[in-house]
Amino acid sequence: MCGIVGIVGITNTVPRMMEALHRLEYRGYDSAGVATLHGGELHRCRAVGKIAALDSKLVDQPIKGDIGIGHTRWATHGEAVEVNAHPHMADGLAVVHNGIIENFASLKKELIENGHNFEGETDTEVVAHLISEYLARGLAPKDAVFETLKRIEGAFALAIIIKNENERIFAARRGSPLVVGMGKGENYLGSDAIALASLSNKLIYLEEGDWAEISREAVTVFDMTGAVVTRPVTYSQVSNTFADKGNYRHFMQKEIFEQPFILAQTIGKYFDQTGGGVKLPAGDFDFANVSKVTIIACGTSYYAALVAKFWLEKMARISVEVDIASEFRYRDPVYTEGGLAIFISQSGETADTLAALKHAKAAGQSILSILNAEESSMSRESDMVFPIYAGPEIGVASTKAFTCQLIVLAALATEIARARGKLDEAGVVSAINSVGEIPKLVADVLSNHKGIEKIAHKIAKARDILFVGRGLHSAIAMEGALKLKEISYIHAEGYAAGELKHGPIALIDENVPVIGLAPHNELFDKTVSNLQEIMARQGQVIVISDHDPSAVGSNGEDLMSFKMPKCDDIASPIVYAVPVQLLAYYAAVEKGTDADQPRNLAKSVTVE
Ligand code: F6R
Repeated sequence: MCGIVGIVGITNTVPRMMEALHRLEYRGYDSAGVATLHGGELHRCRAVGKIAALDSKLVDQPIKGDIGIGHTRWATHGEAVEVNAHPHMADGLAVVHNGIIENFASLKKELIENGHNFEGETDTEVVAHLISEYLARGLAPKDAVFETLKRIEGAFALAIIIKNENERIFAARRGSPLVVGMGKGENYLGSDAIALASLSNKLIYLEEGDWAEISREAVTVFDMTGAVVTRPVTYSQVSNTFADKGNYRHFMQKEIFEQPFILAQTIGKYFDQTGGGVKLPAGDFDFANVSKVTIIACGTSYYAALVAKFWLEKMARISVEVDIASEFRYRDPVYTEGGLAIFISQSGETADTLAALKHAKAAGQSILSILNAEESSMSRESDMVFPIYAGPEIGVASTKAFTCQLIVLAALATEIARARGKLDEAGVVSAINSVGEIPKLVADVLSNHKGIEKIAHKIAKARDILFVGRGLHSAIAMEGALKLKEISYIHAEGYAAGELKHGPIALIDENVPVIGLAPHNELFDKTVSNLQEIMARQGQVIVISDHDPSAVGSNGEDLMSFKMPKCDDIASPIVYAVPVQLLAYYAAVEKGTDADQPRNLAKSVTVE
């Protein structure tokens, strides 16, 4: 969360920083700002809202400078108002920050006692004042930065420019990623390779505790003790082209509708339809002797993990534990020797998932990450990386990344089942054939999108909506509820249908639509019983099923329904994810919310 860019350049940095901030907008869009050094003096421009607001403000109040730092904010401490927007300044220096300074309250108290005046409520402002305090005490800029780093606690990526220091940016990283880009007579700094995509592909990833002095000609990296260290130079493959919406109104809509093509692409990477079996980028890792599987993720990626648990237990007969990353490491988890820990993340940067990964790694588990961002903090920490090949996902609400994660997890489940002798060659061929059907099944659903649009129109005015399903589809019910609430702001919850009578059924009345995911499988009759319990209490059931909706019953009139194609247990959760994505999207359009950049959210969650 929060995006950082910095340039020590030979020409005006502002247009290039703005370009980088647009690339970084997925990290947060509460406010944005840039600060430059020009003629030894600091200049700053900040605006509340998306980067476009800063673009406009810079037209009226232009600033320039050959050295600059920029920031796009996802608010942690302090509201999204201009005084809390970065860069923060104190007595001749400017700071941008991603992360949380956990001891900011005690530092702020101390600094106020020393006569410092604070402008806003952010934790970041203490960093600016602390450096200025050390400068005022006569320390050289580099020493003032180092002393400050020794005092602050928490997670941070920082970039600092100081008045009259026309040759350098200081940078520091603890907990939050930061990468240095190398250019010709210029050097750069960014939150990730995406920020620097049009500036440089020659990168140095700062490591935990590193800090750096970046000038036009040199990059000097120090470790936590202040010793100069050498970090490897890598070359990024991240493309510098901006994704565009094509003829779609929103990126989310485009990303939903391109799934048949994207899924086919990912399937092609993992499933050889010409008899070669499942192809995993796992080297010689021995899946046959894995003692236990633990899968950790957040949000939508966590729901992909829940689906994978069903598949792995059923197909491979292996014990699978699934947990949300923010809880995992704090509950003192029990690992088994020879365990495989799988981390699922679109961004590869989610702070909680990354911390859980490091926890499992320290406990000696084999680490497998399933990622969309192949160049990410998680990929650098993993023993095996399985890319999902979804391409850039710009809509903050994950859609195609979720279904691509499921394709990769289906490949993994099939291979673990085969390696453990639970699936014979015919079983593998049947799994490959069933995955091969998915793009067409998804295309069938998409071609009937008008049916979902009608349902969205009906439910968009509801205050509360429930999604229910059984088995694999309980996870899709939860995903559907998450998607709906995050982009349409309608309160929604997803439940295993059988759980409703243990409490949530108290919510049901004639104003509560309930979306029932009811594929005609071995749990269909049980799902129908649960839907009838809802109808008996006047709940407005809407059925998404491949079966005749009259089999579910009626409320005196025909049930509203959406007809699904027939699919088996591998294809089904992937194909049923599509109508719930569409439902959320059309409900958001109906309500006029911003489907691509919903309030309060960010695409990459790099704080705990
Ligand atoms: C919801 C969504 C989030 C993410 C979660 C984890 O649509 O996208 O719930 O799934 O923040 O992010 P990643 O997958 O990047 O670790």
